[in-house]
Formats: sequence, structure tokens, C-alpha cells
Amino acid sequence: MNQTAADRRIVGSADRPRNDPPIRPSAHPPVLESKSYSFWYGPTQALYDVSCAIPRNAITALIGPSGCGKTTFLRSINRLHDLTPGARHQGEILLDGVSIFAPGTDVVALRRRIGMVFQRPNPFPKPVYDNVAYGPRLNALAPARELPDRVERALRQAALWDEVSDRLREPGTALSGGQQQRLCIARALANEPEVLLMDEPCSALDPIATQRIEELLVELKKTYTIVLVTHNMQQAARVSDYTGFFYVGHLVEFGTTQQVFTRPTDERTEAYITGRFG
Ligand SMILES: Nc1ncnc2c1ncn2[C@@H]1O[C@H](COP(=O)(O)OP(=O)(O)O)[C@@H](O)[C@H]1O
Ligand SMILES: [Mg+2]
Repeated sequence: MNQTAADRRIVGSADRPRNDPPIRPSAHPPVLESKSYSFWYGPTQALYDVSCAIPRNAITALIGPSGCGKTTFLRSINRLHDLTPGARHQGEILLDGVSIFAPGTDVVALRRRIGMVFQRPNPFPKPVYDNVAYGPRLNALAPARELPDRVERALRQAALWDEVSDRLREPGTALSGGQQQRLCIARALANEPEVLLMDEPCSALDPIATQRIEELLVELKKTYTIVLVTHNMQQAARVSDYTGFFYVGHLVEFGTTQQVFTRPTDERTEAYITGRFG
């Protein structure tokens, strides 16, 4: 990973650019729990005994070098491996104390409760309005007459309404990259999920669009639980409350962002955040 001097300054010192006091884990009971979760792509094991509790109404950042299993773990939470040939797992992932793998689990309903935003903005080739209305229509969440309000609310929550309120009939794909990513966030929020999974949501965006998304995440955590995979350690330090460090399929360290970045307990975490590998 290419680290700038500013990265090293931020992760190497306690003067993180945020003023709110550190959050006690007890203030945030877990919404998601992973218990000895292991995962294989055919013969290749990608995750080893991952255990952690993701606190509610907080931002949890998952960091680590490329290929260490961050995306595999995130996709597991949303059961996106269901159709991957040869994929299998052991262990458990619980949402509000209930296994997401329990027989009879309605996967569409699960994905309504756990929304996902991908690395590259992927709006549907449909009008902005229909992108956001898609989930509520699919899940029959609201009567048709309530859809416009719901769409507006989701676009406002995603800090996009002011930019698209007069462009609702234009294709989502006609928006700028940063707007497209906020549209994808609005599309997820329209389902009123509990959890929002985000896999490097800013990696395709410019610094200004990135800053808008970061500000948005801090606002959204009041209502939602956010799990954010990022390769950008400055971003993790800036926005997250908790951080998990993945290394070759192992969750090596998990704690408050303050602790992980200033007093890592594992030497591999320290090597990574100080830029000695990755
Ligand atoms: N569809 C797949 N089939 C086989 N192996 C995969 C697949 N997707 C990812 N992997 C492997 O799983 C490991 C973890 O990958 P990934 O979860 O994408 O890591 P990260 O998101 O941390 O970069 C890597 O070794 C990767 O090559
Ligand atoms: Mg990845």
C-alpha cells in the first residue's frame, strides 16, 4: 500500500482529527456477531475462525492488505456467496442473535435488513427515481402512494436530494461518479436496513466526492450500523469508531479505532498501520 507522509502522521499519533470522546464498547450492543467463521473457495481457505461483534449505531472499519479476506467477509454477511460454485463455510454469523444461515432464512428479506454498497458505483440503467424505488417495490415495503416520500427521504439521507430533485427521470448512470455512489447509498437506505455494508465505497471517487461520503457516513451512523472496508487508513482513522485488521484470512485485531491505531496489541497490526508492509 502506498502511504503518504500524512497517512503516517495520522496513524502514528494520537491526534486524530476528531473531537468526540472514545466510545465505550458497552455503549453499543452488537447487531452482528461472527463466531469462528471460516470460509473456503473450493480447496482454498480464505477466512480462518473470524470472531467479532459489530456494535450498533457505529462505524466499524475493516482494514488490511489486499487479498486478506475483507471482501469475502463482507459478502458473507449478506450471503452473497450463496451462488458461488464450490463456496462453503463453517461457524456462524448472527444478525440480532439469529443465524443468517438458519434453514428457511429468507435471503431477500435478509438483504433488505443488510444493505450493501460496492466498490464501483453500480446504479441500474433506469431513472434516478426508479433506482431508489427499486427495493421498496421489490419488497412491497410501502403502498404506491407512499413511494415518492420514501424515495425523497432516502435521497435526502444520502445527501443527494438537492442535486437530483429536478433530475429524477434522468438515468442514474448519467450522474457523476460521486453522485452515482450516493444514489447507490440511497437505493440501499430506501429499504430502511439495519446494517449498511460498504466495500471500499470511495476507491473510485475523487477527494471531494470522498469527503462528502465520509461526512455522510458519520451522519448515517446515528440511524444505521455501518461496516466499511477501506484500504485508506486515514479514512478508517477519520470516520470509524471500531477497527478490525485482517491479515491473510485472520482477523488479527479488533478494537476501538483509537486503540487499534495508537496501541495495537499485535505486531502485524502495528507493521501495517505504520506502513512497513501491505
Ligand atoms: N471468487 C473467488 N474464487 C476463488 N478465490 C477467490 C475468489 N474471490 C476471492 N478469492 C481469494 O480469496 C482471498 C481473499 O480475497 P478478498 O476477500 O477479495 O480479499 P480483500 O477484499 O481483502 O482484498 C484472496 O486470496 C482471493 O484471491
Ligand atoms: Mg476487497
